Amino acid sequence: MTGTTTIKNGPNHVAVIMDGNGRWAQSRGKPRLFGHHAGAKRVKEIVRACPDHDVKYLTIFAFSTENWKRTQTEVSGLMKLFRRYIASEARDLLAEGVRVRFIGDRVKLDAKLCRLMDEIELLTSGNDRVHLTIALNYGGRDELGRATKRLAREVSAGRIDPETVDETTLARFLDTCFLPDPDLVIRTSGEARISNFLLWQAAYSEYEFVNTLWPDFSAAEFATVLTSYGKRERRFGAVPA
Ligand code: FPP
Repeated sequence: MTGTTTIKNGPNHVAVIMDGNGRWAQSRGKPRLFGHHAGAKRVKEIVRACPDHDVKYLTIFAFSTENWKRTQTEVSGLMKLFRRYIASEARDLLAEGVRVRFIGDRVKLDAKLCRLMDEIELLTSGNDRVHLTIALNYGGRDELGRATKRLAREVSAGRIDPETVDETTLARFLDTCFLPDPDLVIRTSGEARISNFLLWQAAYSEYEFVNTLWPDFSAAEFATVLTSYGKRERRFGAVPA
C-alpha cells in the first residue's frame, strides 16, 4: 500500500506482539527459523506502512526475557537474524526517515549484536518520520526491576527525595522513557495474552487480538486494525461526555 490513507482517530503509537512464526513454518513442514525469516519481511512491510496512516511510533516485541528457554538452534538463529536485519536494513531505514531504538536488557546479548544496535541507533538518531522501537531481551517485569534498582540508587545517593517519588518518577527510569504510552497493542496468531510486554506502559492501551499468524499479517490487515481502533471510545477511567 502506498500513499496516505486517512484513518480517523488512528493511533499515534502501535505496539505489536508478533506471534505465530513457528506455527506458520511448521504448517509448511519447515523449521521454525523459516517462519522467523518470513516474519522479518513483514516487519519491513509494516514499518513502511506506518507513515501512510500517521502512526508515528511502532514498538515490536522481537525477543522476550523468556525466549532464552527455546532451543539453542532457534535462539542463535534469531540472534543471527537480528544482526542481519540491522546490517542490511540500516541504509533504507535511514533514507526512509525511521529512527531505530531498542528496549530491553543488553547484558545477555552478544557484543557484535550490541555494536550493531549502537550503530543503527546513532545512524538514525536524526530521523523523526517513524520511531521504530525493537524490544530485544525485553520483559516488562525485568524492566520494572531494573528501573527500580536505578531509582533506588539515586535515592540512596541522596539525589532523589523518596517523598517525591511518584509514577512519573518511575517512568523516567524505564527503558521506554523516550516513548509515549502505546495507544494500541496488536497480538497476532489468535493468542490472547500480553506475555510480559509493556506491562506498565499499556495500562490504558486498547488491545486487538487477530487470528492471522505474523508472517501473513499484511499492510492491508494492519490498516483494517487501525481503522477499527479509530472507532473505539477511550475513556481512561472517566465516564463518557
Ligand atoms: C513469536 O512467534 C515470535 C518471536 C519470538 C520472534 C519474533 C521475531 C521476528 C518476527 C523476526 C524478525 C524481527 C526483527 C526485528 C527483524 P513464535 O515463534 O512464538 O510462534 P509460535 O507461537 O507459532 O511458535
